[in-house]
Amino acid sequence: MTAVDNENGAVFSKFIRTCDIPGPPYMIDPFVMVIFGGSGDLSRRKLLPALFHLYSENELTAGFSILGCGRSRMEDEQFRAMMKDAVRQFGDEPFDEAGWDQFSSHLFFLSGAFEEDETYDRLEKKLAEISLPSQKGDKNVLYYMAIPSQMMPTVVEKLKEHNLCKGAYRRKMIVEKPFGYDRASAVELNTLLTGAFDEHQIYRIDHYLGKETVQNIIFFRFSNSLFEHLWNSQYIDNVQITVAEDIGIEQRGVFYEETGVVRDIVQNHIMQLIALIAMEPPIGFEAEFIREEKDKVFRAIRPMSDGDIDRFMVRGQYAPGRIHGVPAAGYREEKGVAGDSLTPTFFAGKFFIANWRWAGVPFYVRTGKRLARRVTEIWIQFKQPPLRLFGRTCDALEPNALALAIQPEEKIYLRFGVKYPQAIDKIYPVTMTFSYQDTFKSKMHPAYERLLIDCMRGDLTLFARQDGIEATWEALDPLIARWEDIPSSDFPNYRAGSWGPVESDLLLQNDGRCWLTE
Ligand code: BG6
Repeated sequence: MTAVDNENGAVFSKFIRTCDIPGPPYMIDPFVMVIFGGSGDLSRRKLLPALFHLYSENELTAGFSILGCGRSRMEDEQFRAMMKDAVRQFGDEPFDEAGWDQFSSHLFFLSGAFEEDETYDRLEKKLAEISLPSQKGDKNVLYYMAIPSQMMPTVVEKLKEHNLCKGAYRRKMIVEKPFGYDRASAVELNTLLTGAFDEHQIYRIDHYLGKETVQNIIFFRFSNSLFEHLWNSQYIDNVQITVAEDIGIEQRGVFYEETGVVRDIVQNHIMQLIALIAMEPPIGFEAEFIREEKDKVFRAIRPMSDGDIDRFMVRGQYAPGRIHGVPAAGYREEKGVAGDSLTPTFFAGKFFIANWRWAGVPFYVRTGKRLARRVTEIWIQFKQPPLRLFGRTCDALEPNALALAIQPEEKIYLRFGVKYPQAIDKIYPVTMTFSYQDTFKSKMHPAYERLLIDCMRGDLTLFARQDGIEATWEALDPLIARWEDIPSSDFPNYRAGSWGPVESDLLLQNDGRCWLTE
């Protein structure tokens, strides 16, 4: 095979193309990021490791500051030490001591209660002190709401009262999921946000949309002629989405007790995956066109009756067990969790999308904490050929299937049957695999890094839109209400380290199917 270098460093061969990903074609203007909830879990686990990594990769200009804000009494130095520990613990790269010393001089902390005016007076002063202008002369402020949704209204109202939403600076507001608690509270939150900020200033973050392999779903579907014409109810038998986690709820017992699996994962991450798989081609690659098509999918999710919920939706809560051979506590033994908690940590369900393309195709979804292993995969199972010519002697003829593996493996699998050597009519299922890591030499941006950059650059494509959020709540509110009205009588009902309650398998078995995995 001959290989040819092109000017981007891409190497082409007859069959394989590997590629060095070029550096960023953009400049990030100086900014101040104010993190409300600056010393909290999200800041420690995701935001600071992401910001430090971006800094290490030279993606942030010298003129940036990160201002943690919260009620903990803390000096800048204490905040820096706390974040250093966090980055050491949660960063993906070996810790760079010298790099950290430079980076940490950009970190500050502002102690104050969110309901007190004085906090915002001090915030205003601090912003004037630490913000630097861009070449164009303007200043950028990003607010990050890393706080529980019940606290957001207070912060937004106070920012508005203190004229800290518009005016002198270019300001953006980044809001973390869950966006509200149900449809009504999501509408309320939105009214509040849009009363204080213009729509283009609001970034509703769902970090799944920042994952390269999630973004690839649209690229894969709409840049290959091979699959798109099969992508409908005529050829697809069912779609399966698994978002399995082996971790428990970590230090987030109080948050999780109020949230539960449907609000934590299904309403946002899983709904976004469903939309990307099911959407029609957008008329262009701009933010609004893509968000428009996704929102149509959300609106087409078939409403669920109580009967549908009871038959097609499965809930679970983990009991003690073993994860990768190590003993793991049950949910009710976790810190911050009630000893008789009824909060679900597992969900499996069957959705239908009531539109022309997908009528009758089940979308099976499962997600849970403390499952056997961490894996996010989407399987598209195709229908069997119309006539079964081969394999009559085998128990089952495996259908063709395509898997988009999101994590931890970033791969695409295509499963098909070949003739089993020597046998007369035996088909053998094989898998063809594409691996991101093997093909692209550079590491991909982790999700938070990508989204933070997009936000700094003002690109809304990968952020959720309010009408879509409301539509997903509308689809799920009846389920949440039914489960709250009729508490489960068999929790905990799955062992930590298993694949969830047996009803999850039965959901597919009753339809003559099973969960697909590689
Ligand atoms: C978050 C949820 O949105 O996603 C967490 O609140 C969950 O409960 C996390 O653990 C999973 O993200 P990832 O990127 O590890 O799949």
